[in-house]
Amino acid sequence: MSAQIIPWAKPDFWGKERQYVVEALDSTWISGGPFVDQLEQSFSALSGGARALAVSNGTTAIHLAYLAIGIQAGDEIVVPGFGFLAAANVALHMAARPVFCEVDPRTWCMRAEDVAPVLTARTRAIVVVHTYGNVCDMAPILALANQRGIPVIEDAAEAFPSRYRGQLAGTLGTIGTFSFQATKTITTGEGGMVVTRDDALCERMMLYRSHGLRRKKHYWHEVPGLNCRLTNMQAALGCAQMEKLGRIVAERLRVYATYSSRLARMSGVTLQVFRPEVEPVVWAIAVQLDPAVFPQGRDSVLQQMLEAGIETRPGFYSPGQLEYFDCPPLATCDALAASIVSLPSYPTLTEPEIERICTQLAKLGRS
Ligand SMILES: Cc1ncc(COP(=O)(O)O)c(C=O)c1O
Repeated sequence: MSAQIIPWAKPDFWGKERQYVVEALDSTWISGGPFVDQLEQSFSALSGGARALAVSNGTTAIHLAYLAIGIQAGDEIVVPGFGFLAAANVALHMAARPVFCEVDPRTWCMRAEDVAPVLTARTRAIVVVHTYGNVCDMAPILALANQRGIPVIEDAAEAFPSRYRGQLAGTLGTIGTFSFQATKTITTGEGGMVVTRDDALCERMMLYRSHGLRRKKHYWHEVPGLNCRLTNMQAALGCAQMEKLGRIVAERLRVYATYSSRLARMSGVTLQVFRPEVEPVVWAIAVQLDPAVFPQGRDSVLQQMLEAGIETRPGFYSPGQLEYFDCPPLATCDALAASIVSLPSYPTLTEPEIERICTQLAKLGRS
């Protein structure tokens, strides 16, 4: 294996991260505190005034969204059959039933026509997952959901700060959720955010976020709450990252542009497609491999890339492969799950490194 491994992801700290974390420590505000308020305010401003609540991670963000809309045991929640499975996993913890739908074979995201056939009288929420930084075609999904009176939760963990028709992904539905986990575009190590324009839902999420307690009445639990709070030290990291958001996005766009011009000329690989309404900030650059060009199979390609000193990742496994889900075969999702490779994608990735990654991938295919 070559000495210089190119990792799949790498967080970068270009701004005042160290200074702000030390400030948080010095202030002795180490649980909640002013950086939490500041991070929420900056998210709210970017969201066009939606209310934003900082939370402990992107999974608790989804949990709070479900609690706020009142998911009950036996309710059905529509989720895509290709994508990170947090929304489906949390559904199981609430004794709700994740109902998987197909996705578009080009954008790898769910569409209204994928959702419509799986809606039933028991559907209580639709969770759209904006995979890899793409944004689902929201207008038809929202039209369908409004018609049926079903709330839409946008899982925008991978899509900050992508836009759809100029609007921030995560602010188009009833509630939007974000993750600040270490590989994400903005990171606090672990962390997340929920946004909504609905004051009543926001109040419920605030209550559930903090043990069901209100500040003015100590130890009086109004609801069986959780602890989903972000610490002031983590928020300090987030505030520093938000100050550098422009540069982080510019570097991610550069990395994507370099990759896409190189990969567009390579045989046997197909890039994710973005609809004209979408301005993506791609979190993970991924390709679908053509088995005729890569007959060794996707998993062997991952291994061969690693042997060449390049860390890559598979696309998300299909829920049908995981025995704890009850998921019928989904032709498109299952095919994507078996054939996608995501490539190193982070703001400091250099042009020679991208060239090395692409050259290595091309070498593994039959010309
Ligand atoms: C689409 C999606 N949703 C939710 C999550 C969960 O977020 P977290 O790891 O912050 O809990 C992730 C991954 O981290 C994700 O990619």
